Amino acid sequence: METAAPISERVSDVDAKHESGRQKIDWAREHMPILSALEDEFTAERPLSGEVVGMALHVEAKTAALVELLAEGGAEVAITGCNPLSTHDDVSVALDAHENITSYAEHGIDDTEYYEAIDAVIDHEPTITVDDGGDLVFRIHEEYPELVESIIGGTEETTTGVHRLRAMDADGALDYPMFNVNDTPMKHLFDNVHGTGESALANIAMTTNLSWAGKTVVVAGFGYCGRGVAKKARGQNAHVIVTEIDPRRALEAHMEGYEVTSMDDAAERGDVFVTTTGNRDVVTADHFEDMKDGVVLANAGHFDVEINLEDLRNLSVNEREVREGVQEYELADGSRVNVLAEGRLVNLASPVSLGHPVEVMDQSFGVQAVCVRELATHGDGYDDGLHDVPDALDREVAELKLDAEGIELDELTDVQREYMDSWQHGT
Ligand code: NAI
Repeated sequence: METAAPISERVSDVDAKHESGRQKIDWAREHMPILSALEDEFTAERPLSGEVVGMALHVEAKTAALVELLAEGGAEVAITGCNPLSTHDDVSVALDAHENITSYAEHGIDDTEYYEAIDAVIDHEPTITVDDGGDLVFRIHEEYPELVESIIGGTEETTTGVHRLRAMDADGALDYPMFNVNDTPMKHLFDNVHGTGESALANIAMTTNLSWAGKTVVVAGFGYCGRGVAKKARGQNAHVIVTEIDPRRALEAHMEGYEVTSMDDAAERGDVFVTTTGNRDVVTADHFEDMKDGVVLANAGHFDVEINLEDLRNLSVNEREVREGVQEYELADGSRVNVLAEGRLVNLASPVSLGHPVEVMDQSFGVQAVCVRELATHGDGYDDGLHDVPDALDREVAELKLDAEGIELDELTDVQREYMDSWQHGT
């Protein structure tokens, strides 16, 4: 099978890219106190010595800080992107310059090149895998099952990847231990809610240069990402409509004061639509024709299947790029639908995208780093299959963050501890 060459052998202006990538990484690292605290430990103790970490993540500055931390902890690291549009080539080049890191990630590659880059990472024969969306772990199971034996374990960053792993685990088809990083509190309560909320809205605003105030924003899905998007959109003075398929989540949105209705109903009322479901075909042919002229459609879910672009193309009589990152589809009646970032995650794949705020990724990647350390040091203790992140690791990251922020915690007294642990205390 053909595999990709490292990015530095494929792109031009390597020195200039290196310099600008280095600058972006240094800025991110400066604002990541959790990774900085772990760096002190990792460089002193080298817990990852002898490990080969294979990664498929969004290759931008914050991810680079994690990659460098793992290399400083003693690992050899091979990385590629988990989305063809989210890679920053300058960051990828700067990573590739590190003697223990090889980066294959390149912006804008097609599907064949995307998998050639994944195969190139797998060629390093990783002992630990780090995924965002699951493409690496699935590729290993499907195409390179002989490698599974030497893999200690892996980690998964996002909801969609965890869904895929759960299905695999239920089928008895997950052949090494995987940590579900997404569902641990230090990740999803912050990254999915605040990270996606802030960065999706910021990127939509920057890509379009349009205001939120006075707009009707339709948020599809009121999960962790959806509630973040809805909350921040309301904070920008938009009227927010939520669509859901889960009665509890719909009720939660209602009790939070949002209007809740079906997509069929919302289609004709929204000015901006943001999908956050992790599902497919959320906005389809049934909806496009009802929409107002000039609506903006963006997706913040992991894959580019939430807005059905095939339906939209079939309905269109004309298609053109009206602004960088904004594709306009003109329907037969002359109304226009604008899709951002080709329907891929808008906060990572639009031309101006920077992904989540740095501080948020410090937390998510703090969890990733301690999980990789756990696999390297105690990986033998975990069976094949999907595992929750041990609570002690999640707490460790929370404590590092509180320390960095100078926030003090109360401690349980012995009497309180005994009271909390006892079932005999009543009125
Ligand atoms: P979640 O499971 O908490 O929420 C998804 C919600 O969508 C659920 O409440 C579900 O009932 C609802 N839903 C499913 N199908 C629907 C439909 N057809 N119409 C309306 N609602 C529907 O998941 P979470 O954590 O909010 O993640 C959502 C997606 O965002 C995933 O694909 C995840 O991987 C991705 N993600 C993206 C990030 C980004 O940077 N853009 C960051 C974190 C996660």
